[in-house]
Amino acid sequence: MIEAKNLTRQFPGGTVALEGINLTVPDGQFISLVGPSGCGKSTLLSLLAGLDKPSAGSVIGIERPAVVFQDAALYPWKTVLQNVAFGLELRGLSKAACREKAEVALRTVHLSRFARAYPHELSGGMRQRAAIARALVLEPDALFLDEPFGALDAQTRSLLQTELLTLWERTQVSVVFVTHSLEEAIALSDRVILMASRPGRIIADVLIDAPRPRALRHDLTLAAIQDRLLAQLSEEVARVAAQEYDTDWRGVPLPTLSVAPGEEGGSGI
Ligand SMILES: Nc1ncnc2c1ncn2[C@@H]1O[C@H](COP(=O)(O)OP(=O)(O)OP(=O)(O)O)[C@@H](O)[C@H]1O
Ligand SMILES: [Mg+2]
Repeated sequence: MIEAKNLTRQFPGGTVALEGINLTVPDGQFISLVGPSGCGKSTLLSLLAGLDKPSAGSVIGIERPAVVFQDAALYPWKTVLQNVAFGLELRGLSKAACREKAEVALRTVHLSRFARAYPHELSGGMRQRAAIARALVLEPDALFLDEPFGALDAQTRSLLQTELLTLWERTQVSVVFVTHSLEEAIALSDRVILMASRPGRIIADVLIDAPRPRALRHDLTLAAIQDRLLAQLSEEVARVAAQEYDTDWRGVPLPTLSVAPGEEGGSGI
């Protein structure tokens, strides 16, 4: 079980990226973190995975985390197989054991045929699958994914979502999944955590108790959850945009619009 208690993360310079975060993730649960850009999703993921330390509060429960980022971040001078095996080499496993485990991990993500290819020879989706294999080979107790499919086209994204669910069901690893897409979060997770910013905090925590695969368009309960969360998210995005964006941006009603031209106050930025 991952247990985050009263987490605060303040960066040098004063930005309070997160404040008062309390979150418990039972073993094997798949949760998604959703929220507007800058609300602290990546910061929270880093704290939960132990890549970063909180300014206050604590995280307990993770012994073997593995992280996958939006950009697969493979070593360009190593083959796919070498990339996947590298983490095991660092752990001191024999060459033969590293290779064997890396081959199994590549089979799991259906990438065996490209074991000897270099990252630049792969498509974006293949690179993400290699990154997932590199994480899985470490036999993690929790998998942290930060917008892993964000840069992929819709079809590839959908395929990889299905693959991820299959892997999760088989390994029973806990998953913390960051996404901008509410639809993706609701389709995949047991639980959707909606965050707001300034300071980053949790504003909704919703259990999605529905069998998978999920078709949001044909499931009235899921569609209602999506509508409700979308309304909260839109409100939050508009609030942040009004605070942060230049005053000539017309995407949301700006507080200064009611002020007569020439009388605008400072934007506060
Ligand atoms: N290393 C850092 N130093 C200073 N401020 C930081 C640092 N990392 C993040 N921040 C700030 O903390 C806040 C949260 O950032 P974070 O990257 O966690 O947001 P996010 O929700 O992941 O955004 P996005 O959806 O755009 O990826 C932002 O205001 C950001 O500018
Ligand atoms: Mg982020």
